[in-house]
Amino acid sequence: MSSALEIRNVSRSFGATNVLQDVSLSVPLSGCVGLLGTSGSGKSTILRIIAGLEEPTAGQVLVDGQDMRAVPVEQRGMALVFQKALLFPHLNVIDNVAFPARMAGQRRAEARRHAMDYLELVQLADYARRPVGKLSGGQEQRISLARALARNPRILLLDEPFASLDVQLREDMYELIRTIRAQLAPTIVLVTHDRQEASILADSIAVLDDGRILQHGTVHQLHYQPATQAVNRLLGGLNAIPGEVSDGRHHSVLGHLPVQDDAPDGPALLVVRQEALTLIPPDESGPSTLKGAVSALTSLGARTLVRVTVYSGDSNPPAPPAGRGPQDPAVGGASTWDEGPAATLTVDVAGNPHLLPGQVVGVGLQDNRGWAVPA
Ligand SMILES: Nc1ncnc2c1ncn2[C@@H]1O[C@H](COP(=O)(O)OP(=O)(O)OP(=O)(O)O)[C@@H](O)[C@H]1O
Ligand SMILES: [Mg+2]
Repeated sequence: MSSALEIRNVSRSFGATNVLQDVSLSVPLSGCVGLLGTSGSGKSTILRIIAGLEEPTAGQVLVDGQDMRAVPVEQRGMALVFQKALLFPHLNVIDNVAFPARMAGQRRAEARRHAMDYLELVQLADYARRPVGKLSGGQEQRISLARALARNPRILLLDEPFASLDVQLREDMYELIRTIRAQLAPTIVLVTHDRQEASILADSIAVLDDGRILQHGTVHQLHYQPATQAVNRLLGGLNAIPGEVSDGRHHSVLGHLPVQDDAPDGPALLVVRQEALTLIPPDESGPSTLKGAVSALTSLGARTLVRVTVYSGDSNPPAPPAGRGPQDPAVGGASTWDEGPAATLTVDVAGNPHLLPGQVVGVGLQDNRGWAVPA
């Protein structure tokens, strides 16, 4: 069973501090919304208000259109999984999972049978009789999830449940969430500060900053059409070039690039994802290709971030001095290219591009189109 969740104009203050300011958010039936924000932005406070563990100062929480104000925590049909698994140390695995059913008055044998179904779902049926003190962090989290699911919640609230797990375990947990969505289809709010995790698991992402929702959109919209530079940064965008929008184009050191039709005229940052840029050998680039010099390389292992300094003045650096080819690391450098204002672009490339600082490269932009946000 699943429900639609709506948070309407919710604010929360502690004393004089406004922790949440007019937060509105809708999660459709069986949908999964990722709530992404930095530490202290108010993510856990939102979850606690949804669950009924905290009162909003203003605003409403609605489930299938019903105001939850007068509905006690245990009757809201929700389950909350915390960042740190809160298992009862004196109970073994199966009795931890059976606990909510026991509290609801079910007989022990029946509650255990029901719990076993969920232990199977999280692939820990073999651990049913184990004391909870003898589990790994990942196993503890899976048991917390099984216990939450055993309550058959209409809404599953996940508060950074995978933050402390290693990469492999996290990927196993992502698979488990996919299985849970396919088999049980609860409505999910997933709190995370990991943009990749939000992108992998959620249908849409709401970006929270300082108690406000900056943007709620699809994973693609947030990456390629951020509402503001703050959203771009939180989604890991590395390029924001200052300039001015007029007549549907952004004018900057990089030239005059078409941007979205409804971009207002005035000062604006041109946002271009590092993955939407490609490096082109300078001799293969066309007249409209940007050219610049490599200023830094950062290896990410399987990928490399290449920083390229691009100068204005037809965007072309002067030819290298005779006898020093473009492969020569001594070539380039800001001092020999001082043609005008510069911009630095970061390009994300696969593998090791075998470039050296100072080397001249062309930079291509997918679709030759950018996205402008207010400066
Ligand atoms: N009971 C409280 N009294 C006073 N301030 C509080 C209380 N609970 C939370 N806050 C403050 O509200 C802000 C938001 O807290 P919250 O726990 O919601 O952030 P968060 O986004 O979940 O952060 P994190 O990623 O670190 O878990 C913080 O500045 C916190 O100090
Ligand atoms: Mg938190």
